[in-house]
Amino acid sequence: MKNYIFDRLPEDEQQLLKEAEKAMANAYNPYSKFSVGAALLSLDGKIITGSNYENAAYGPTICAERSALVKANSEGIRKFSKIAIIGKGKKGPTVGVTAPCGTCRQMLFEASQISKKDIWVIMANTNMTVIIKARISTLLPLAFGPDDLEIDVSKF
Ligand code: THU
Repeated sequence: MKNYIFDRLPEDEQQLLKEAEKAMANAYNPYSKFSVGAALLSLDGKIITGSNYENAAYGPTICAERSALVKANSEGIRKFSKIAIIGKGKKGPTVGVTAPCGTCRQMLFEASQISKKDIWVIMANTNMTVIIKARISTLLPLAFGPDDLEIDVSKF
């Protein structure tokens, strides 16, 4: 996958990364101390952010990406073209990018079917010196989704 330079990214992607970086500062992460921020770009140009929200029982933890998706849903926003993700380790900046976990990929795939867009996932390391982009269909090949259940979710 190609590596991108922040200054050469399109304006909307630079803005998404900056918003994700701000959301990362709001991570509730007493257990892992790993911070993640995500920023979704809706089809009508709105930015919705999320940060990880952990739980003492560990399992209920919600990642930044899903946090952004459900926050957007509660505002009636379900169609997106892009998401930016950035993370920070417990010992400091990450060297490599933070990529979405399997559960978040599945949720982003659902969003891509609702949106009828193969969502771009923009992933960065903490210092934004390493940036890679991939479509959700690349991150989750042969995905199971609404189409398999013969349900058209795009009208939601
Ligand atoms: N996490 C995210 O929020 N997004 C990812 O893409 C990877 C993992 C969170 C979950 C948990 O709070 C912490 O990072 C460590 O797994």
